[in-house]
Formats: sequence, C-alpha cells, structure tokens
Amino acid sequence: MGNTTQIIHSIPVDPLTGAISVPIYQTSTFVQEAPGVNKGFDYARTNNPTRQALENLVAELEDGSIGAAFASGLSAIDAVVKLLKAGDEIIAVDDIYGGAFRLFTQIYEKFGINVNYVDATNAENVFNAITLRTKLIWIETPTNPTLKISDIAAIAKIARASNCLLCVDNTFASPALQKPLALGADLVVHSATKYLGGHSDLIAGIVIAKDKELGEKVKFIQNASGAILSPFDSWLVIRGIETLTLRIKQHCLNAQQVAEFLEQHSEVDRVYYPGLKSHINHDIAAKQSKGFGGIVSFTLKNDTEEAAVQFVTSTKLFKLAESLGGIKSLLCHPANMTHKTIPAEKRRAAGVADSLIRLSIGLEEAEDLVKDIEQALEKIKISRTGNYRVQTA
Ligand SMILES: Cc1ncc(COP(=O)(O)O)c(C=O)c1O
Repeated sequence: MGNTTQIIHSIPVDPLTGAISVPIYQTSTFVQEAPGVNKGFDYARTNNPTRQALENLVAELEDGSIGAAFASGLSAIDAVVKLLKAGDEIIAVDDIYGGAFRLFTQIYEKFGINVNYVDATNAENVFNAITLRTKLIWIETPTNPTLKISDIAAIAKIARASNCLLCVDNTFASPALQKPLALGADLVVHSATKYLGGHSDLIAGIVIAKDKELGEKVKFIQNASGAILSPFDSWLVIRGIETLTLRIKQHCLNAQQVAEFLEQHSEVDRVYYPGLKSHINHDIAAKQSKGFGGIVSFTLKNDTEEAAVQFVTSTKLFKLAESLGGIKSLLCHPANMTHKTIPAEKRRAAGVADSLIRLSIGLEEAEDLVKDIEQALEKIKISRTGNYRVQTA
C-alpha cells in the first residue's frame, strides 16, 4: 500500500456512530458499570479515544508499536529522558534543538543525568563517546538548524552493541520521508507542532516506541507525569496528518528550488540543505529518506548578526517567527531566537554561525519565495557595498 493510502486509511471511522472524522471526546472521565468495569477508558489523563486515535495513527506511520501524545514536543522529549535514572549518560548530537539542550543541561544535569555532545554525522564519533554509563543516544537527522545528517542504521547498530537506546527526533523529516524505527532506532519523537500538525495552529509532541514493553514504560510516564495532549489538539494533529504526504512533497520541491537559488547567490556563503549534492552527507540522506524536507539554512558572506537581522526583517512572504513546518513560509535567526540558550562558543562550534538564517519553506509558489529572498539579499548587498546603483541595475 502506498504511503498516502496508508495514512488516509489508518484514520479510523468512529465505531460508535460511523463518523468519518474522528470525534473529539471532550470529557475528563468515563462512566463505569462497576469499579474497574468500563469500555476501555476510565480517566482522560490515562486515556482518551481521540488521543488514542492519534497515538495509534502515528505509531502505525512510524512502524512502531505504541505511541504517546504529549502537550508539546519538549514534554515528549522529557518523557524519554525519564526512562533514565541518576548516573546514566546520554550521547546527543551537537547541534541539538536549543530547547532540548536547555532541558538536558538545566533540568536533568541537576538530577545526575549527564549529556555528552558529539558530531554524530560521523557514526565513529558516537562509538568513541560511549561509556559504561551511556544509556541513551539522541540524534536529530536532519538537525535543527544546520541540517546535519546522521546515519541512523549505523548508529542503531552501535546502540544495540552497547546496550543503549537510540532515540531519533524525526521532526524535520516526518514519517512521510523517513522511518527511523525501521532503520533500527528504539524510539522516535516528534514536535507535532511542526509537519505533523502542519498549519502552525497547535503545540504537540509524540513519542513512538518500536517495541511494546518500552512503549508501555513511556505510557506509564505519560500518565504518571501527566503532560498529555488535549482531545481538541489531538484532533487537529489527526487533521493535519491527513494531508501530510501531499504537503511534504510540495515542501521538498519548493525547498530544493530555494536551496539551489541560494547556492549560486553572491551574498550567500554556505547553504545547508541535504538535497544539494554539495551537502556533506547527501548520500546518506538519499539512502535513508525519500526526500530532503522543507528546511533550508544558509549563512551570509557578511557573517554578522546585524546582516542576518537585516535579512530577516526585509522579507515580505517569509514571516519572522519561531517554529517551522507550516503552510506559510517562516524564517528565523537561530543565534538570537531558537538557539539563544546555547552559549555563543558552543553554538558556533556546532556550526550555528552568527549570520545563520533558517528558512521554513511553505507551500507558496517557489518562484514567489525566490523573488522574496532575492530582494532581501539585494538589501544586504546595498548595505555591505554602499552601492546604491545596484538597486537600479
Ligand atoms: C527538532 C525539534 N524537536 C523538538 C522541538 C520542541 O517542540 P515543541 O516546540 O513542540 O515543544 C522543536 C521545536 O522547535 C524542534 O525543532
């Protein structure tokens, strides 16, 4: 069965009424016939039919056995870390999403869970960082925001041989492009706020476990810690997923066009997009995913925060905002926004340069997006060269 057919038909018809759209069960509790005798639901923190429909849907899309939906991507990440105990160590990709870095360093280090950051684009670095205490390997691929690619299958082998779990943050690729569990990972997390939701209208997170036993531990944490996704937001994510493959196809086409335009522009220094042949791990990306996604990052020849700020305030279609993965194009300046919590030295060392700009390519016409970028780059050029004749040339 094709991916799109699978998605559309994994969304259940309501068994009670035949409703084609999953009903929103806006309830806190469920009436029981006798203590413990119920229709499979007792209290909505523990389980809710709308949330359950979403959890089953994403588990199926990711080739997993159990899904657990959370109030945000970060609470999904938090639930995975709670599988560990004091004294355990995590190996994490070095340009990890800033919020995950903050959670690891400012919350979990206090509880005795230490994190070792490595450049996971070379699986050997991961292997070399393993200690007897390593219990979890955490990768994003592509990473946020420098679109680094790690070899999921190779790192999964290392994880298995070292008896630790591999969790892949699959937010950027989505299951429409990449299925880490099928490549050997144990857990996948999503900020469903992004491509799964797809319309910039909710905050949500999901954890999917490959095997049932691990999934049940995550479900236990979900209930015990309580950061569940509401029925309405669960419904919104299901609605978003209905068009996931269609949206992702267009995001990829548009992003490729934008990346190729940027690559030949004189004001642009480096372009980060796994779909470009110049991307260092283009071959691995092509091997493990069906497409290269909708995020493109780039740096300016004038590698200053000022030039980047001028660019991000000069575009008209690209709106300056945190987040990504929606139908409208967004852009951000990670050094000042998503990655502000990472110390400048560490941020630069991970490749997040002062002028790095991240584009979330939406579903507008690619030509319009290119024109918008072109006029903003022209402004940068004028400021840099002071040559106002360029404007009329
Ligand atoms: C790769 C990645 N993972 C996790 C998150 C956190 O998700 P949320 O904002 O839904 O908590 C984000 C947010 O930008 C992200 O980009």
